[in-house]
Amino acid sequence: MSAPTRLAIVLAAGLGTRMKSARPKVMHEVANLSLVGHVMKALAAAEATRIAVVVGPDMAELRQEVARLAPAATCHEQTDRLGTAHAALAARPAYEPLPEQIFVLFGDTPLVRPQTIARIGARLEEGADLVVLGFRARNPTGYGRLLEKDGALVAIREEKDASDAERRVDFCNSGIMAFRGARFAEILDSVRNDNANGEYYLTDAVEIARGLGLSVASETAEEAEVQGINTRAQLADVEADFQTRARRAAMDDGATLIAPQTVFFSHDTVLGKDVTVEPNVVFGPGVTVADGVTIRAFSHLEQASVGAGTTMGPYARLRPGAVIGAGAHIGNFVEIKNATVEDGAKVNHLSYIGDARVGANANIGAGTITCNYDGFLKHHTDIGAGVFVGSNSTLVAPLVIGDGAYLAAGGTVTQDVPADALVIGRARQTTKEGRGASLKARFQRAKEEKSSKGKG
Ligand code: UD1
Ligand code: CA
Repeated sequence: MSAPTRLAIVLAAGLGTRMKSARPKVMHEVANLSLVGHVMKALAAAEATRIAVVVGPDMAELRQEVARLAPAATCHEQTDRLGTAHAALAARPAYEPLPEQIFVLFGDTPLVRPQTIARIGARLEEGADLVVLGFRARNPTGYGRLLEKDGALVAIREEKDASDAERRVDFCNSGIMAFRGARFAEILDSVRNDNANGEYYLTDAVEIARGLGLSVASETAEEAEVQGINTRAQLADVEADFQTRARRAAMDDGATLIAPQTVFFSHDTVLGKDVTVEPNVVFGPGVTVADGVTIRAFSHLEQASVGAGTTMGPYARLRPGAVIGAGAHIGNFVEIKNATVEDGAKVNHLSYIGDARVGANANIGAGTITCNYDGFLKHHTDIGAGVFVGSNSTLVAPLVIGDGAYLAAGGTVTQDVPADALVIGRARQTTKEGRGASLKARFQRAKEEKSSKGKG
C-alpha cells in the first residue's frame, strides 16, 4: 500500500497581539528557529505531500522563511483575520487535486513530533473522518475544551463560550486536526461565526462532522509537545520544554552533560559520542561537535564545527565560520571567527583569531590578535603548520606566515614571513645598570615633598 497523499495547512496569519511585537507571532523563535520553522521541520519528517501556509497581509518576512525552509510550499493570504476555519479556507487552491488526508496545524504550536502526525494519519486510514489531537493541560485557561460523551468526542468549546462546568474540563484542543480529504471543504463551509468572538472557529468542525453522521476521533499527546504560544511567557515555557527534550536526546545519544539544565541547545545542534559538556554552555545555530570533545564551562558556539578529541574553554567563543580540527586546544577567553584551526593546533589564552587559518600543530601564544579589519575591508591571515607565535603578537592582515616560522613575543608583524624564519617585530631592549634604583629614589623624594607641602 502506498502512503496516502497528505496536505498540511499551517495557519500562521494571526497577529498574536498578546506578544506585543512588531513581528508576526510565528516568526518568534524557539531554539533559534522560528515557530513556523519547527512545524515545517516536523512536516518534512512526516512526509507531507504538500504544505500550504496561510499568511497575513504584509508578512514578507514570513513568506521568505517559508520559501527558505520548504521551497515547494505555497503561501496563501488571509486578508481579514476572521478565525481559524476562515484561515483554513484561505488555502482552498491547495486542495486541488484533492488529497486523501488534510491536516491543519497551527504555526504557534511548534513542538509537535512527526510520530504524532503519523499516528493521527493512521487513525484516518483506519476509517475516522476527523481526528482531533488533545492533551491534558496543567492550566487549561485559554484553550478550547474537548467535550466527550460516553467516551466519544462530541464538541470543542472555546474558553469564552464555555459554561463553568465546561471550563473545569482539562482535556484541551491542541489545534491539530486531520480530515479525510473528501469531507474537508464540506465541513469547513458549514462553519458559522455565531460565538462570543464572532469568528469562524475551526473547532466547530467536530459538531458539524457529527451532525453529518461522520466518524470523529481524538488522539492524545503530552502537553509539552502541543503547548500553544500566545504570550511571551508561553514562548519561554515552550523553549524550556524544547531544551528539556534536547538535553535528554543529547545524553541518550552518548554525551555527558554535567549540569544539563544549564546547557542550551539550538534546533540543529549535533553532538558526537563521548562529548563532555561542562555547565553553562550555549550552542547557537549550526554547531557540529565530533566525538570525544570536551567543552568546558561558559563557552559559546555558533555556526561552527569542532573536530574529534578537541578541548575548548572554559570561556571560549566560536563565532560563525569557526572550523576546529581534531585534537586542538582552544583555551580561555579565545574568540575564533571565520577561521580554520587545523589538527593539533593550540590557541590557549586570550586571543582573537578572525579570517584566518592556523596550520596543524601551530602554537598561538597568549594575547595574539589577528588584525583582520582595516576599518573598511576584512583581510586574511594564513599561519602555516608548526608555526610558533609568541605571546602578545599583533598579526596585521593580509599576512602569510610560512610553515615552521618562529615569531618572537610582543611583535607587530606586517610583512609576510618565509617558512622556518625567525621574526622579531619589536623595539630592541635597552638596559641601564643601576638606573632602576636611582629612578625609584627620585620618585620617592618627589612624593615626600608633595606630602610635606600638603601639611604646611
Ligand atoms: C486555538 C483554538 C483552541 C486551541 C488553541 C491551541 C480555535 C478557534 N481555537 O485558540 O481551541 O485550544 O488554539 O493552542 O481554533 N490564525 C490565522 N487566522 C486567523 C486566526 C488564527 O491564521 O484568523 C492562526 C494563528 O496565527 C495561530 C493559529 O491560527 O497560529 C491559532 O490561532 P490563535 O488565535 O492563537 O488561537 P487560540 O486562541 O490560541
Ligand atoms: Ca494560539
